[in-house]
Amino acid sequence: MAGRNHLFIPGPTNTPHEILSAMHLPMEDHRSPIFPKLFAPILEDLKKVFRTETGQCFVFPATGTAGWEVALTNCLNPGDKVIIYRVGQFAHLWMEMAKRLGFDVEVHEVEWGKGIPVDHLEARLKEDTNHEIKAVLATYNETSTGVTSSIPGIRGALNAANHPALLFVDGVSAIASIEFRMDDWGVDGAISGSQKGFMLPAGLAILAFSQKALKATETSTSRRAFLSLQDQINSNKDGYTPYTPSTPMLHGLRASLDLLLDEGMDNVYARHHRLGEGVRRAVAAWGLKICAEAGVESDTVTAIVVPEDKDARDVISIAFNKYNISLGAGLSILSGKVFRIGHIGDMNDVSLLGAIAGVEMALLDSGINITAGSGVAAALEYYRSTAN
Ligand SMILES: Cc1ncc(COP(=O)(O)O)c(C=O)c1O
Repeated sequence: MAGRNHLFIPGPTNTPHEILSAMHLPMEDHRSPIFPKLFAPILEDLKKVFRTETGQCFVFPATGTAGWEVALTNCLNPGDKVIIYRVGQFAHLWMEMAKRLGFDVEVHEVEWGKGIPVDHLEARLKEDTNHEIKAVLATYNETSTGVTSSIPGIRGALNAANHPALLFVDGVSAIASIEFRMDDWGVDGAISGSQKGFMLPAGLAILAFSQKALKATETSTSRRAFLSLQDQINSNKDGYTPYTPSTPMLHGLRASLDLLLDEGMDNVYARHHRLGEGVRRAVAAWGLKICAEAGVESDTVTAIVVPEDKDARDVISIAFNKYNISLGAGLSILSGKVFRIGHIGDMNDVSLLGAIAGVEMALLDSGINITAGSGVAAALEYYRSTAN
């Protein structure tokens, strides 16, 4: 089909030409004296994205899923108790991993569409007077439901209970796009991946750990090999990596950081908020509901609920086959019930208006009763009235 297939899935996201061209270069010697000139400043500049001065950033040749494993196996001891709220499919997968790795996982079910219940967490932490819970695993932006939980709220719960548990945050679909403040929010392990807010292909787990978490690695007896933070620390101190890095991806990450930092992180957050709000207005104008309850709507992805007698998979397949746009599918229990619009990464008003128009056509073709142009009109009015 002529024209571009635009990605309105919440990752991988559209890769800007600055990043694509930065990655298009011959292979390099990663043990050369010039490699640290590329890599060391990347590790420093990542701190500006994670908003940390006291933490340390890491880049593993892996994906976000490996980031979960890095946090669990480097900072905890075998069988340690961790607590997780199952707010959606990605929280579910992290929980499953923690169980598979042999941790004692305390799971609390949350209706999908709601955020992590901070009051419940606070009460549970206060009850845990022996401090058996060693880590709170928090999915900041649950990509399957389009729900953003409050990390400052979770830090507040830990503080109110005066509880020493480590706070690990899955920020895969949040970091480098919506507000994230590692130091201010007292986050001990922050997990991200290259293919979302960083606008790169998948292939890098981009992480940050607090000094408290790094201290815990010194005594942690969990088994780990490839995903060892200590191996990274030993090589990173001289600007190198413990094994062969993907040098094109690092050049891409350099370009990504330049784009993000040139725009300014606060502007990146504000842009994502405007983009998300326009989509929410479009959905309201269609007369449809979103999966997220009021107050926890994500600015990077919106999960839209189709009427009960319709199948969201039809909307997604018509959108792809007939209009050449990619939408996110409903995952797990949400399969067929929702489709998702990703509004993350290299995106602006006009590209998103194209997606909203494409979704309208796919909704109409699926027999869903909306008024043609209603969502586009609502979004464009909002974008027009809030554009700088
Ligand atoms: C919130 C969240 N966590 C973790 C992951 C897993 O990341 P990856 O697919 O890079 O391993 C994803 C992927 O979409 C995600 O959205």
